[in-house]
Amino acid sequence: MGVKSKVQGLMKIVVVKERRPGETRVSATPETVKKFVALGCEVIVESGAGQFSHISDKAYESEGASIASSISDAVKGADAVLKVSRPMTGSEGQDEIAALPEGTLLIAGLNALTAKDTVDALAKQKITAIAMELMPRITRAQSMDILSSQSNLAGYKAVIDAAARFGRAMPMMMTAAGTIAPARVLVFGAGVAGLQAIATAKRLGGVVLATDVRYVAKEQVESLGGKFIVVDEEAMKAAETEGGYAKEMSDDFKKKQAEAVRAEVVKADIVITTALIPGRPAPKLIAADVVADMKAGSVIVDLAVESGGNVEGSKLDGVVVTDNGVTIMGYANVAARLARDASSLYSRNLFNFLSPMIDKESGALNMNWEDEVVTGTLVTKDGKVIHPRLTGEGDS
Ligand code: NAI
Repeated sequence: MGVKSKVQGLMKIVVVKERRPGETRVSATPETVKKFVALGCEVIVESGAGQFSHISDKAYESEGASIASSISDAVKGADAVLKVSRPMTGSEGQDEIAALPEGTLLIAGLNALTAKDTVDALAKQKITAIAMELMPRITRAQSMDILSSQSNLAGYKAVIDAAARFGRAMPMMMTAAGTIAPARVLVFGAGVAGLQAIATAKRLGGVVLATDVRYVAKEQVESLGGKFIVVDEEAMKAAETEGGYAKEMSDDFKKKQAEAVRAEVVKADIVITTALIPGRPAPKLIAADVVADMKAGSVIVDLAVESGGNVEGSKLDGVVVTDNGVTIMGYANVAARLARDASSLYSRNLFNFLSPMIDKESGALNMNWEDEVVTGTLVTKDGKVIHPRLTGEGDS
């Protein structure tokens, strides 16, 4: 299948197939393709891009996309390439970055703060790379926030995964044969994923407790019907950065926290851990000796496993059963386990970011390099790594 030659002035947006193992999502849906086409853009979709999200080539075509049979055909003359996962480098098995033409605008989740090799390779290829995970947490950018849209789904799915594994019911049930006690669910980290996990566990009928280092999370947990475990009120009130994220806590706080939650972990039937500190390894919150004291049949889901894990003994993309019968689930990329919804929300995030930069008259790309949503996310340009958090000029 050939691709139409580029019409002068029109912005050419390319949706490539995700090649990273386990990536089921896609960076555009027929809905966002239709919206880009309505703005005057030309959209090229690499054949099979939507396969794992159950979106056929035909579905894209009927909203005005052209289908390209290979990545090299797709990206010819591209102004912008949309992706979900960070493109692979040669050392990861397949060099996706080499396939991108020089000067292309790449918009994707890049894990830029930790994946230095990727960022360096993008600079070398002279790609203008936008790392969507660095989107500033300002009101205007909420609709562009891929961390929120994907974490929300991950928090939901973590509880569903745990409930499916758990050999007991979640709600209290009063039956003629007697009463079943509700499951006790403990959630570490009450950010986007954690709050959705709390809401989901409540909907399933569990008794829910949660803890976070940010004191502001207390009210949010309580509004969802959860009980908040306070460790050290003063330290927790100072634990939030201006960007709304958690700071790394002192060893003293960590010790107090471990003591405060130990009894609750041991009593819990289901534990969901979601604690992250941007750009740093995930804090270790549950030690192996605590897991060893948990009840047989309890289930832990470690959503932080890709950042090193909150739970000692969790295995990246694996399910571990400990000697005392506790299951620890460490699925990678949990949002991708809900591929269709994850793709829909992710695609809208990308559309909301890119569409204001498309000139309404000419349909051409007109980036506003001064805009906070661009300066906050732009990591490479003109062959250089330029983001202040990567060049050592900024920290939060
Ligand atoms: P995250 O994914 O970076 O971390 C998850 C949670 O883990 C956070 O609540 C964090 O405080 C917590 N945590 C970190 N270290 C911990 C520890 N040692 N023990 C227990 N918990 C720990 O954070 P996320 O979910 O991305 O959001 C953080 C905040 O930003 C939330 O309040 C959220 O509502 C807010 N937010 C604001 C947005 C906006 O204004 N545009 C968009 C999205 C989120």
